Amino acid sequence: MSEEKTIEWIKKGVAQGYSRMIDQTLLPYEYKKVDISTTKGIYDAIKTMIVRGAPAIGIAGAHGVVIAAIENKNSADFINEVKKAANYINSSRPTAVNLAWAINEQLKILDDNKDKSNNEIIELLVKNAIRLEDEDIEINKKIGQYGSEIIPKGAGILTHCNAGALATVGWGTALGVIRSAYLKDNTIKVFADETRPRGQGAKLTTYELLRDGINTTLITDNMSAYFMKKNMIDVVVVGADRIALNGDSANKIGTYLVAIAAKYHNIPFYIAAPKSTIDAEIKTGDEIVIELRDKEEVTIINNKLICPKDVNVINPGFDVTPSELISGIITEYGIFKPDEIHKLFK
Ligand code: MRU
Repeated sequence: MSEEKTIEWIKKGVAQGYSRMIDQTLLPYEYKKVDISTTKGIYDAIKTMIVRGAPAIGIAGAHGVVIAAIENKNSADFINEVKKAANYINSSRPTAVNLAWAINEQLKILDDNKDKSNNEIIELLVKNAIRLEDEDIEINKKIGQYGSEIIPKGAGILTHCNAGALATVGWGTALGVIRSAYLKDNTIKVFADETRPRGQGAKLTTYELLRDGINTTLITDNMSAYFMKKNMIDVVVVGADRIALNGDSANKIGTYLVAIAAKYHNIPFYIAAPKSTIDAEIKTGDEIVIELRDKEEVTIINNKLICPKDVNVINPGFDVTPSELISGIITEYGIFKPDEIHKLFK
C-alpha cells in the first residue's frame, strides 16, 4: 500500500522551501505533483481542489502559513502580515474545520515565539507543519485500527466521496478503515458512490482502492438504496468535514441521503474522522456553514453543457447528517456514540 504523502513540505535550506502536492484535478488520468510557493497559490490550490479533503486542506493551510512567513520575512510588521495571509487562506473553503484548526496550530507557534528572529520562527513553523503531516498518518492508522473492528467478515462496505489517502496526508479516514479491514480480511467488497458533481468517488476512491488491490465496485449516487435492499451492503463508512458537539456531521453532499437509506434498511452508518474535525465551538449541525460552489460543476460534464444554459442551479458542496442517523464516530481515541463525542473535549 502506498506510503507516499499526498501533500508534504519540501525543505530547501534554512527558512526556505515549498509545498508539494498531488494535483487531484488530473486524477485518474494523470498522476502529477505540483510545487506551490506563494500564499495565492495555496489559496487557489484549495479553492480549485488541486488539494481537497478536510485533513489534506488543513495541511495545505499549515504550509500556507509557512509560505506567508517566508514571503514576509523582511516585513517590519511580520507577525501581523502572516496573520493577515493566514485569514486569507482560511477563507478559501468554509466547511472543513481542519483548515482553520491547522492554521491555528501554526498561529500558536507564531504567538509563542514572538521574541525569536523571523528565520527562527519560520524554522519552527516548518517543523510544526511536518509534525502535523506525520501525525495525520499516525492518527489515520489508529482510526483504521479501531474502525476495522466494526467491519464484519466479507462485508459489503459503502462509502461516499473520497475520504482516503488522497484526502489526507496518507492512509485515509473512511478508506483508512477499509484499508485496515482489508489487511485482516481480503474478502471485503467496497461500493464507491460516484459523488456528483465533482466525481471524487469515481475518480479518486476507485483509483486508490484498485491500486491497493481492494475489490471495488463503482455505483452512481442514486443506486445505494438498490444495493442496500439487495443485502449487498453491510455497513456504511464515510468521512466528515466538520462535526458539531452533538454529533451532527457535515460531509460531501449526498451523505445525508445515504444515511437515511441506511437507517431504513437497518444498516450501520459510521463516520470516520480525527478529533481535529470536531468543532468544539458549535453545538449542532445547524451552525455549520455549507460551501456553495459554481453552477458549472453541475451543468458541464467533460466540457459539454448537459442542460439548458439558463436553468437555475444550486450547488451546495456538503450536507449535514443528523446525529440520530449515525451509529458511531470512529476517531483516533476509539469509537464514540454521536452524543458522547463532546467527552473528547472534557
Ligand atoms: O469537496 P471535497 O472533495 O474536499 O470533500 C471531501 C469530503 O467530503 C470528505 O469526505 C471529507 O473531507 C473527509 S476527508 C478524510
